[in-house]
Amino acid sequence: MHDYQHFLQEILIDQQQLATRVAELAAVLDRDYAGIKGLTLVCILKGGIMFLTDLMRHLTVPHAVEFMAASSYGVEARESTGHVKIGLDIPSERIRGKHVLIVEDIIDSGTTLAYVRQMLLDRQPASLKICTLLNKPERRETPVPVDYIGFEIPNKFVFGYGLDLDELYRNLPFIGVVNPGAILTRE
Ligand code: IMP
Ligand code: MG
Repeated sequence: MHDYQHFLQEILIDQQQLATRVAELAAVLDRDYAGIKGLTLVCILKGGIMFLTDLMRHLTVPHAVEFMAASSYGVEARESTGHVKIGLDIPSERIRGKHVLIVEDIIDSGTTLAYVRQMLLDRQPASLKICTLLNKPERRETPVPVDYIGFEIPNKFVFGYGLDLDELYRNLPFIGVVNPGAILTRE
């Protein structure tokens, strides 16, 4: 028994469902960006890593990859603080004139993405779209246009496949719902 099972209420999206949907999204992106030069995927760290790397494996359209670290969460909080912190940025010249696709793990309040989107728009990309694996529409506070969505999910805290539970379990191959009754203990 792995220790994450203590925190797992249920598996919301299993490995096979993720693999199928990521391949579908890549096929749509390949079609929409066919013939486009200068596609740049901007992965939002850390949660977007699994989605990005799986998506890249399927994409055939040539693309560059950049990373940005953004967070709107306090260290302890499960709720968005409304403050967005940029921990890692991208030089403007790698955005200007590029067809930028933001690759994100989950859109919750929308605060993080709305902020990052405006930052990137200010650098005058040729186009800017957003691709998120998960969307929690019920939680939206800041409107943000989303072009590609993997799954719409209910208002529950989830982890796995890039998403963390207090920085752990990003490696799990599925998206799981956190058991609200499980009290987290730290070492
Ligand atoms: P937003 O600014 O409220 O949209 O927050 C988005 C960010 O919060 C995501 O990129 C995640 O890193 C994190 N987040 C939001 N909901 C969850 C969740 O259910 N599990 C893990 N991380 C989450
Ligand atoms: Mg994130």
